[in-house]
Amino acid sequence: THGRVTPVSSEELARHNTREDAWMAIRGKVYNVTRYMDFHPGGVDELMRGVGRDATKLFDEVHAWVNYQQLLIKCYIGPLRTVVKMDS
Ligand code: HEM
Repeated sequence: THGRVTPVSSEELARHNTREDAWMAIRGKVYNVTRYMDFHPGGVDELMRGVGRDATKLFDEVHAWVNYQQLLIKCYIGPLRTVVKMDS
C-alpha cells in the first residue's frame, strides 16, 4: 500500500479497532498502528484506548509534543473524511 492515499470515513475507521487490525486518527490523518503497537513506549493497552477512532485528544493529553508524523510515516493511510450534514 506504499504511496497510496485513501480517504477514510469514521465508519471505516471504527471497523479497525482490534489489536491485530488497529487504525487511529490523529489531527485528521488516519494511521494503521498495528505494527507500531509493540514499539509504543506507553504500552499496548494505552495505545489500544485510541484505536478505531479519533485519538487526537487522548494523544495530546499524554504527549502532544511527540512527532507521530515521523514515527508513523510508513503507517499513513489517508485523511479522515468528515461528513458535513446539511440538514437540521
Ligand atoms: C508514551 C508515541 C498514542 C499513551 C509515548 C512515547 C512515545 C509515544 C514516543 C514516549 C514519550 C516519552 O519520551 O516520554 C505515540 C504515538 C502514538 C501514541 C506515535 C500514536 C499512534 C498514544 C495514545 C495513548 C498514548 C492514543 C492513549 C492514552 C501513552 C502513555 C505513554 C506514552 C501513557 C507513557 C508516558 C510516560 O510514561 O511518560 N507514546 N503514542 N499514546 N504514550 Fe503514546
